[in-house]
Amino acid sequence: MANANNIIYLDNNATTPIDPKVLDTMLPFLKENFANPSSTHFFGTQINEAVKSARIRVKDLIGADEKEIIFTSGSTETINIALKGVAENYSEKGKHIISVSTEHKAVLDTCKFLENRGYEVTYLSVQQNGLIDLNELKKSLRSDTILVCVMFVNNETGVIQPIKEIASLTHEVGALFMSDTTQAVGKIEIDVNDFGIDILCLSGHKMYAPKGIGALYVRKGIKLPAYTHGGGHENGLRSGTLNVPGIVALGKACEIAEQEMKQDAERISSLRNELENELLKIPDTFVNGSKESRIHNVSNICFKGFDANVLIGRMKNVAVSNGSACTAAIVESSHVLTAMGLTDDDAFASIRFSLGKFNTKEEIKSVIEIISELIKTSFRYA
Ligand SMILES: Cc1ncc(COP(=O)(O)O)c(C=O)c1O
Repeated sequence: MANANNIIYLDNNATTPIDPKVLDTMLPFLKENFANPSSTHFFGTQINEAVKSARIRVKDLIGADEKEIIFTSGSTETINIALKGVAENYSEKGKHIISVSTEHKAVLDTCKFLENRGYEVTYLSVQQNGLIDLNELKKSLRSDTILVCVMFVNNETGVIQPIKEIASLTHEVGALFMSDTTQAVGKIEIDVNDFGIDILCLSGHKMYAPKGIGALYVRKGIKLPAYTHGGGHENGLRSGTLNVPGIVALGKACEIAEQEMKQDAERISSLRNELENELLKIPDTFVNGSKESRIHNVSNICFKGFDANVLIGRMKNVAVSNGSACTAAIVESSHVLTAMGLTDDDAFASIRFSLGKFNTKEEIKSVIEIISELIKTSFRYA
């Protein structure tokens, strides 16, 4: 899809463009359909119906029940609600949580917060391919473990963890299993019952809906405390007037994903493979993370000896991402890549290409040409 600046956008894991069909569905709710869904007048009940339909579309996509879906502002908030909520409500059983060193900062920083509040968190390591070792998980599970939190798809490498096996080991000790499925929902089929997921998060702006809307799935019977107090919205968990335009947009995005996910995956996967195969012809390049257990839209490639930031800066009309996370003043190498055993230099030399459903074959051809030329004319540090 052409954008205003004619940029070839390969940063869909950071955020996706809004699907025009999603925008069309959402716009009336920013204009004439503005009533509060909690209002009891006819206008309000009409809007409430739209929220109900959206909730059905979200629950249908992940095989859940309507009552198990809580609308939030996105995955960071959902992860905070879930991790802090489980910690608070299950602390009588224990104060031990298990997660993974390659999780998103939304999980890691919330875990750090809980550690400061007296909880013990075990961070599982990953192998060179980015996958956890199930034996390490087995050894880490305890009778006082209350929650295991492992992401489905890694946002930097696309690596897919063995979720079914993790969920089943977790349940053997009576703990809850939560998965950050932000980069998975809408791209691959997920049925919460099939995978044994008790809690998950999804985010609109990773699946062609706008920013500022997401959802929490929490299995019936799991009690979480109120995150915000007020009018008792969203089963009393998250009070506050609902973001109706966002909710309606998310519902539409889920409906589209359910219908189109399979054929999108095939097309995107063949574009990703073409890009990856061609870029790997450049000397001293390699893929970060398992190629066998990986989502179809991501390729994280190390261009050994180069500075990815410099390369990205020189790519005038290509939007990609480097593996490093920039905090306010410090530029750090990616915690995901270094946890997989990469040196800081190799982590700084890595670029994440994340494709989306609007990318074309022509765009991929151009990117291959642009990067191949760029490498020839760029300075190699080592
Ligand atoms: C795996 C993962 N988890 C959580 C988040 C946070 O999502 P949000 O932007 O909806 O807060 C992201 C976003 O980058 C992500 O990729």
